[in-house]
Amino acid sequence: MNKLYLLGLLASLLYLPALADSPRVALQDKQIFIANLMQQMTLEEKIGQLRLISIGGEEMPKERLIEEIAAGHVGGTFNSVTRTENRPLQDAAVNSSRLKIPLFFAYDIVHGHRTIFPISLAQASSWDMQAIAKSARISAIEASADGIDMTFAPMVDISRDPRWGRTSEGLGEDPYLVSRIAKVMVKAYQGDSLQAPDSLMASVKHFALYGAVEGGRDYNIVDMSPVRMYQAYLPPYRAAIDAGAGGVMIALNSINGTPATANTWLLQDLLRKDWGFKGITISDHGAIGELLKHGVARNGREAAKLAIKAGVDMSMHDELYRQELPKLIASGEVKQQEIDNAVRDVLGAKYDMGLFEDPYRRIGSAADDPADTNAESRLHRAEARDMARRSLVLLKNENQTLPLKKHGTIALIGPLADAPIDILGSWAAAGLPRQSVSLLKGLREALGDQAQLIHARGANITNDQRIVDYLNVISFWEPEVVQDKRSPAAMIAEAVEAAEQADVIVAAVGESRSMSHEAVSRTSLDIPASQRALLAALKATGKPLVLVLMNGRPLALQGEQEQADAILETWFSGTEGGHAIADVLFGDYNPSGKLPISFPRSPGQIPTYYNHPRIGRPFNPEKPDHYTSQYFEEPNGPLYPFGYGLSYTEFSLSGLTLSSRTLQRNATLDASVTLKNTGQRDGETVVQLYIQDITASLIRPVKELKNFQKVMLKAGEEKIIHFTITEDDLKFYNIHLEQVAEPGEFNVQIGLDSETVQEQRFELL
Ligand code: NOJ
Repeated sequence: MNKLYLLGLLASLLYLPALADSPRVALQDKQIFIANLMQQMTLEEKIGQLRLISIGGEEMPKERLIEEIAAGHVGGTFNSVTRTENRPLQDAAVNSSRLKIPLFFAYDIVHGHRTIFPISLAQASSWDMQAIAKSARISAIEASADGIDMTFAPMVDISRDPRWGRTSEGLGEDPYLVSRIAKVMVKAYQGDSLQAPDSLMASVKHFALYGAVEGGRDYNIVDMSPVRMYQAYLPPYRAAIDAGAGGVMIALNSINGTPATANTWLLQDLLRKDWGFKGITISDHGAIGELLKHGVARNGREAAKLAIKAGVDMSMHDELYRQELPKLIASGEVKQQEIDNAVRDVLGAKYDMGLFEDPYRRIGSAADDPADTNAESRLHRAEARDMARRSLVLLKNENQTLPLKKHGTIALIGPLADAPIDILGSWAAAGLPRQSVSLLKGLREALGDQAQLIHARGANITNDQRIVDYLNVISFWEPEVVQDKRSPAAMIAEAVEAAEQADVIVAAVGESRSMSHEAVSRTSLDIPASQRALLAALKATGKPLVLVLMNGRPLALQGEQEQADAILETWFSGTEGGHAIADVLFGDYNPSGKLPISFPRSPGQIPTYYNHPRIGRPFNPEKPDHYTSQYFEEPNGPLYPFGYGLSYTEFSLSGLTLSSRTLQRNATLDASVTLKNTGQRDGETVVQLYIQDITASLIRPVKELKNFQKVMLKAGEEKIIHFTITEDDLKFYNIHLEQVAEPGEFNVQIGLDSETVQEQRFELL
């Protein structure tokens, strides 16, 4: 099949790129190949390449899709997850379409494909670049083995507003941490060569600033100063692009009055001219049509015109390019060059993915298809368990309530105790709930017959039927939030009875996965009332109470912080979540996660991000004057700060030393600190380095993360940790948007979270 295809292409193109070994020759080959191909394309075929179709939509039944592909009207598809689904589509493209241009196949592989790893926010909590790289590499291996070429990931939108449901898909609030992870993920998805059969092209999203939607309400506007944009929100996209991301998905929001989908400054001046991006840009679902709703286009024709002129190469699930571009070309409103630029990018992406050389590179031959796509042998359970353990964050542990002993009686209670769908988190790709390990299953297997485990549901996720109905409309495949028909009182009574028989209560509470998803913004960050009533009843039994939280965003946990003896934040921990949580609860793994986002005390405090720009009347806890910046009803600052997370052992930091009091430009400064494991167990922690620019031409943040190291120490062991500081760490965007390091004094702060730090000062000369 592949040879035939190549011969056909050779005959039609009279040119096939030689395998070149120098990048320049390879680039020339690519350009010549695409130029030759484009010369033979009709306008209709060119516009066809700009069309990305969602598989499974009612408006495009399979038979019609095959016809459209054969007619050369489709550039790629997304949402199909097996080789057998993709093969006939590729057959139609390479056997039946005139120019035999292969399709590409995309999918949202955000935190795993068949094996589901913890949600992105959880992975960020690991601060473990190796583990994150491994999970992305495995995702690419699994997805490419199912005939997929591209992932719509990583999602790197900085989120400082936990009301936004898509906080769960992102990597937190900090530009430095998110940028580091963005880079690691892109490299891991794309592997050593994008052409490799086990590589996925990464389409970083959502460009840009989607996480800053006003009020945390999904799809809302973004209005932001250029300095803030450059300093805090754009770096992760830039990091992904510098790491070689082949694609960019354009955000659904507007930016300072212009929708991203119609934003020439964003898609051309910034992305292509300033950042040198050469890959493919893809609109988000239906976004070109939404230009009418934004009120910047009067009709579909204007919308298509705005999008193509702005630089949107491919239109996702949107017919406007197909309908309107021919007329716009005929009238001269859109230039051929503008269409050609987009087509070149789409063909370039296919070339880079190796699809012209072999359109079946990832689909393989039918003889090699897995007998069962969901076979256990195709999963990577050990790696998923490892990633999940590293992602859990211990928020409280009074009187060494944790780790639990594997004897006596444990009452496992709560609507998330036996929740194989929820534990996968949203955007769970091809992951199957029946293959996930719920907390109940994980605890049962960990305990065997060593201890007694009693299970009671205790409450529904919420008693509000209106909310349940909404969540079930937006949930993916089936009604996911299934209500226990018993009365709340009856469920609580059963739970209390279970608790009374037990030595300790483990309460699995929080959000259903559908509560932390696209189109799910919240006004409250509370654990829903049904579950809070359950917790109050459990607390009243007087038994030690351990909360196992499942949620995709920071919650407001002031009440729970007082109520519970121990709190473990587990986010949505994926296929192996139940095993991983059991490992931590029983101390088989010592927790080491740190929060990648601050937890406000209440939604009224939002935003609570740690790297806030300085102000004239800052709150001073030692002198709580009333004319300082604060909310007077509750303590200032977050409940749990960025970078926070406990361990079963204790760590101390001491003796922060700088190698010099001054730093010359182009020189380096060493900051060292002694880290000691002062507790009884081996453990890992994250040493975090923050910098504060003391005086500058523009207001600078109170501190900014600039480096970190995850360090494992044996009980009693100590180690000197070194960080190298350079001029680059001191740079910021000034009022002219130039990246500069201004001379003057800086504080170096090192801590095990962003609040409790050691400090030393130096001067940049
Ligand atoms: C809409 C979402 O905003 C985006 O993140 C996703 O990649 C696309 N749909 C495709 O599923």
